[in-house]
This record gives sequence, structure tokens and C-alpha cells, in this order.
Amino acid sequence: MPLLFKKIKDLRNYLKSRRCEGKEVGFVPTMGYLHKGHRELIKLARMQNDIVVVSIFVNPTQFGEGEDYDRYPKDLERDLSICEEEGVDVVFAPEVAEIYPKGYRTRVCVGELGNILEGAFRPGHFDGVATIVVKLFNIVQPNRAYFGEKDYQQLKIIQQLVEDLNIPVEIIPVPIVREEGGLAYSSRNVYLSPEERESALAIYKSFQLAEKMIKAGERDAKRIKEAIRAFIERHPHVKGIDYVEITDENLKPKETVEKGDRILVAVRIGDARLIDNWKVEL
Ligand code: PAF
Repeated sequence: MPLLFKKIKDLRNYLKSRRCEGKEVGFVPTMGYLHKGHRELIKLARMQNDIVVVSIFVNPTQFGEGEDYDRYPKDLERDLSICEEEGVDVVFAPEVAEIYPKGYRTRVCVGELGNILEGAFRPGHFDGVATIVVKLFNIVQPNRAYFGEKDYQQLKIIQQLVEDLNIPVEIIPVPIVREEGGLAYSSRNVYLSPEERESALAIYKSFQLAEKMIKAGERDAKRIKEAIRAFIERHPHVKGIDYVEITDENLKPKETVEKGDRILVAVRIGDARLIDNWKVEL
């Protein structure tokens, strides 16, 4: 079993002595309810570091009012056994009061990148993410930290954050892991009924449709976005599409699609809000 720490002080003491021995630390920050996507982050961290730390913390400051903070899935026992299977050394699972004690005030503001796409629908979300990530980086002081490309905007914001604030952590992006059928692994997939899950496959299929259009010579982002929307919308249980956007790799919207661009979508299906993205390969 991995070592389980709930207190910052205990985790710091442990990691301090490991670092004194010259060990390098890889860090996988998560909100728990681990799935295959997390396993890939952990596997890469395991390969590249002496010590692997996984944090499990459902961070209240990145949830808006009316979002799923109260019902976000949790299962620490299951997470611990997944961490054991993947050879994790340390799990850090603090209580909210340990991270945000009474009187806590400071918040990291990420600016423009945090206001577009996801940020337009979840105001303040990325400031909450940036705040917890900076805190966790300061607590763990890893050499490397691992982030999935499913949360592509989050990854870009964190890359910008470590550069802007001179945080000495190497950010390692890890490609999206998909279930058979193409649904990207997400802890939020548990909100889907079997029928809704079937409809959720429309997201992946819409990427395939876009890829086909692009391969056939279509380069007009507007027409591709319209085709994606129309395709997803005609599936049952789809309550709405928050956005379909095509950007360059730095999230700048594109009119003409090129290799390396990203298609990003957020779709509400049943009680779930799913995000996904696709890298355009030509
Ligand atoms: O991607 C997540 O699970 C969360 O946003 C993170 C990075 C662990 C911060 O709470």
C-alpha cells in the first residue's frame, strides 16, 4: 500500500528526507475517483521518477455555484488500491480545512486564458484550479507534474502559470485515454446512464467526422464546427452544447484549420457536462 498522508507537515517531512537522499519526485494531482486516464499519468510518473506522489482532493474553489461539488464521486479505498497497483509511493489526501484553513484569502488569477472556452461557462474555475495547483506544488515541490490533455485548457493554463510565476516544476502532458467506442475517461462519466453513455459517443464520432472532412480538403473552421454541432445535437439525451471551437495549440481561435490545431467541445448530456478535444492530424 502507498503511504497515506492527510497533513501537509507529515508529507513535507517525508518528502524532505527523500529529497535529501537525492530522489526525484513525480507528482500526479487528482480529484480522486481514479480511472484509466489517471493510471496513464501515474505510469509515466512511475517511469520518470524515484518517488511518485498522487494527491486526491476535490478542490472546492474550482467549482461554481450549482455545479457538482457536493455530488462529485469519491472512493478513497478504491483509489488507494489503484495507486497500489500502479506502484505509487505516497497518496496525499487532505481535508478541506487542511488546505483552506479559516482566514485563507489569497487566490491566483490566471487572466484572459481563464475566461475563454470553459472559463466562459465556469467563471472563476481556472483561478480555483491555479490556486490549488500552486499550493500543491509548494507542498509537494515535485521535479515533474503530470496533466492529462483531456483538460487541454487546464494544461495550457498550468504551463503558462509555471512560466509566469517561475515555478521550477516540469509540466508533462499526457494524451487522452479513451474507452472502447471513443468516450474519453472521466470521473464524471459515472453520472451517465447506459443510454446517455451511448449518446456521449457522439462526441468522439463527431471528431472522426471532422477529421474526415479535413482529410477531404475542408479547411473552413466555421463549416467544420457547424457539422460537429449538427452531428452531436441529433443524438438523444443531449441537453445542449456549450461550445465547439477550433483553436491553434495555444487556444487562439482559427478560421482556417491546419495540422496541430485543436477541436474543443463541451456537451451537456443527461446530468453530466462532458469536455473533450481532438488534435487535428492531416
Ligand atoms: O484535473 C483535475 O483533476 C483538477 O483540476 C486538479 C488539477 C487536480 C486541480 O484540482
